[in-house]
Amino acid sequence: MISFKAPSNIALVKYWGKKGEQLPANPSISFTLTHCYTETSIEYERRSESSIASGEPFSFDFSFEGQPKPSFHPKIHTFFERIVAYLPFLKDYHFSIASHNSFPHSSGIASSASAMAALSVCLMQISKELGETYAEEAFWQKASFLARLGSGSACRSVRGSIVVWGEHPAIIGSSDEYSIPYPLPVHEVFQNYQDTILLIDRGQKQVSSTVGHNLMHGHPFAEARFAQANENINKLVRSFASGDVERFIEVVESEALTLHAMMQTSIPYFILMRPNTLEVIQRIWQYRKETNIPLCFTLDAGANVHLLYPKTSTTEVKWFIEEELAQFCEGRQYIHDEVATI
Ligand code: DP6
Repeated sequence: MISFKAPSNIALVKYWGKKGEQLPANPSISFTLTHCYTETSIEYERRSESSIASGEPFSFDFSFEGQPKPSFHPKIHTFFERIVAYLPFLKDYHFSIASHNSFPHSSGIASSASAMAALSVCLMQISKELGETYAEEAFWQKASFLARLGSGSACRSVRGSIVVWGEHPAIIGSSDEYSIPYPLPVHEVFQNYQDTILLIDRGQKQVSSTVGHNLMHGHPFAEARFAQANENINKLVRSFASGDVERFIEVVESEALTLHAMMQTSIPYFILMRPNTLEVIQRIWQYRKETNIPLCFTLDAGANVHLLYPKTSTTEVKWFIEEELAQFCEGRQYIHDEVATI
């Protein structure tokens, strides 16, 4: 049996808008998390003659957290269709896929990134077992490439603790096709950054990311936004090197608000923030002003708030969360996580 644990990631510079076959309209950069992950296991055996003769291109079953989940089949089928050109053995075997998340399914935490990344790495391991050989680097690049075809942000969840996806002139080796571990200097303040995820709204999103990305086609602010993301990567590169937390905060919070501004100014427009998202943001700003503790936030495509802060501020920030912010979370729920050290 093959298995792999793929982590969630949270983007600092956001991917929002795509072109071609799942290529990003601008480069993005993310922190890889430690405690939020998807673990996937696969058993596989050769398909029988009759199964192949049935005309079905693929044969698999899927269970999630121990229960068969036929509702996930179309997603996996589409994914297999997209990647079969790169892994032709997919047609010849039956796959029993089992998956579980370390975080609650209804938490509103996007699981597609970690799920597609885990599945892709498992399939790459199978490809190796079946006799394919890869140099170390080529293995991870192809795993990330395949994950991208499942879900863009998934390509940033295969390896590395700070990860870049999308070509950027300041980052040698960066590519639109796959992610790479961030190759430039990182000041120690950013090496074990903390991320506490406030679960503001655990409901299903009303608008999927895929739909949102498509609304960037013909969006009135698209070009300026893509240029800004490129510029924000330059700024992050400088803050990572120098340890400039203030500039880091400016970039990260601006990226989060810009992402949501793009949603609010597309046609159709939509709002994924909730009143408690805004309440929490106000309180973070107030807290930072009063204490000088470099606590900041980012958002993904939903209402939840990711709190980012250096490890050295953990005690104070945890107290602040419990005393002031937990009341704005559904069921007072939040998840402490930190940037992976791989
Ligand atoms: C807001 O990767 O979920 O989280 O490629 O259509 O599957 P698809 O979209 P997805 O988009 C994630 C967008 C984001 C920002 C980010 O992670 O960079």
